[in-house]
Amino acid sequence: MGASTDGAESLHPDIEQVLIGSAHIQARLREIAAEIDRDYAGRQVLLVGVLKGAFILMADLARSLTVPVEFDFMAVSSYGSATQTSGVVRILKDLDLDIAGRDVLVVEDIVDSGLTLNYLLRNLRARGPSSLEVMALLSKPDQTRVDLPIRYQGFAVPNVFVVGYGLDYAERYRNLSFVGTLRPEVYAQT
Ligand code: IMP
Repeated sequence: MGASTDGAESLHPDIEQVLIGSAHIQARLREIAAEIDRDYAGRQVLLVGVLKGAFILMADLARSLTVPVEFDFMAVSSYGSATQTSGVVRILKDLDLDIAGRDVLVVEDIVDSGLTLNYLLRNLRARGPSSLEVMALLSKPDQTRVDLPIRYQGFAVPNVFVVGYGLDYAERYRNLSFVGTLRPEVYAQT
């Protein structure tokens, strides 16, 4: 993880620190896309994005892929507007497609406790895909609480709450092109 800055990104008034700069994210996504292209050569991948956090990641990753891809999305409940996990996972939006016999790659923004992904993988596995793998942009150290098969991993982040690049605090900051931490005053205001 590098505290790279790409110019204007440090200017957002609510951001305390940029943890992963936008150029760094894009470079890592291109590396991961090249790996996916190799691993899935000759096959068709069904990307399953976990909403809402993965929408930006999914769009950028997919544009670097050359293997044929299809898209589907799921929405599950996570933190709401607090910053602590509840451990309760609910499907808010299910897949449109039948994944039986498909090569499925789940695209997830961040794995913290791993509870969300753990639930999701069990649920998807029961539908009989021919393969099921995970790409997660970020992971936090707590993830060791559950043993998760994350095939493609972007960056490890420390155990702090991060926003940007799809990740929100109270539904804001998803559109930032980098990953960073918020100033403490921002939490005090909500
Ligand atoms: P887990 O079930 O504890 O692994 O939590 C995963 C979900 O919680 C992610 O998909 C995010 O939606 C949310 N989450 C976890 N950590 C953060 C964070 O630092 N910032 C924003 N959302 C987070």
